Amino acid sequence: MSTIQDRVVIITGASSGIGEATAKELASKGAKLVLAARREDRLKKLQEEIQRNGGQATYKVTDVTSHEQMEELAEYTLKEFGKIDVLVNNAGVMPQSFLYKKKIEEWNTMIDVNIKGVLYGIAACLPSMRERKSGHIINLSSVAGYGVWPASSVYSATKSAVRAITEGLRKEEFRNNIRTTIISPGAISTELTETITEPKLKAAFDELYKGAIEAENIALAISFAIEQPADVAVSEMIVRPAQQEL
Ligand SMILES: NC(=O)c1ccc[n+]([C@@H]2O[C@H](COP(=O)([O-])OP(=O)(O)OC[C@H]3O[C@@H](n4cnc5c(N)ncnc54)[C@H](OP(=O)(O)O)[C@@H]3O)[C@@H](O)[C@H]2O)c1
Repeated sequence: MSTIQDRVVIITGASSGIGEATAKELASKGAKLVLAARREDRLKKLQEEIQRNGGQATYKVTDVTSHEQMEELAEYTLKEFGKIDVLVNNAGVMPQSFLYKKKIEEWNTMIDVNIKGVLYGIAACLPSMRERKSGHIINLSSVAGYGVWPASSVYSATKSAVRAITEGLRKEEFRNNIRTTIISPGAISTELTETITEPKLKAAFDELYKGAIEAENIALAISFAIEQPADVAVSEMIVRPAQQEL
């Protein structure tokens, strides 16, 4: 039996891209899923598809920038399934821009979703994991968490923060048998670049993303991290297109 069988997994940002692909992959291996994002129509459609294929999934409309909604997501999961085995903090946005353009609202959104959303997820799920002395928190960083390029300053800052937070969490909680994993994708074919509002930059990303690989490749990396034996922690993975320099 797969070690993913009957694991209770929360996935944020499950309504598209990597989150959606991860949900399908884990459902096919018998996980019990709680799908979270803001777009209910997408979550409902995904839930129905998973159930049609014999998988188990429920959903809760959640904005990760709300601490209260993240707490409610954890409470809902505990009520439905009695435990939280894995949290995949996947929700993220990438409205890249040059600093001089002063896209302050977009900076704030990136900080709120990519950093605070991850923190609120940890805050909501950690108490019950600590109580059970068991759990796994998987956070999505990026190759941009390792490097900075023109127009990537704020996005890179948020993804570096995800790495720092996850490594801190690991050092604080490994004695409580809570595993952590940082997943850092390169260019993956999803809706992520749609959040770029500068036309020239969007065009440059569209060019770069011609070489993108599929979200399923990241889903497999996440699945690999979860299915390791309890005494094995996959702390960090970078998965990028073989032909990508960044
Ligand atoms: N694609 C890449 O090349 C790439 C590379 C490196 C890292 N990543 C990271 O991978 C993660 C997943 O991104 P993706 O590529 O799959 O992009 P995507 O297709 O755009 O998915 C992003 C997800 O985040 C959700 N989201 C955004 N804001 C949210 C909020 N306030 N509350 C709840 N959910 C929210 C979206 O759902 P709703 O709009 O329905 O809320 C959506 O499901 C992100 O953290 C991203 O930074 C992606």
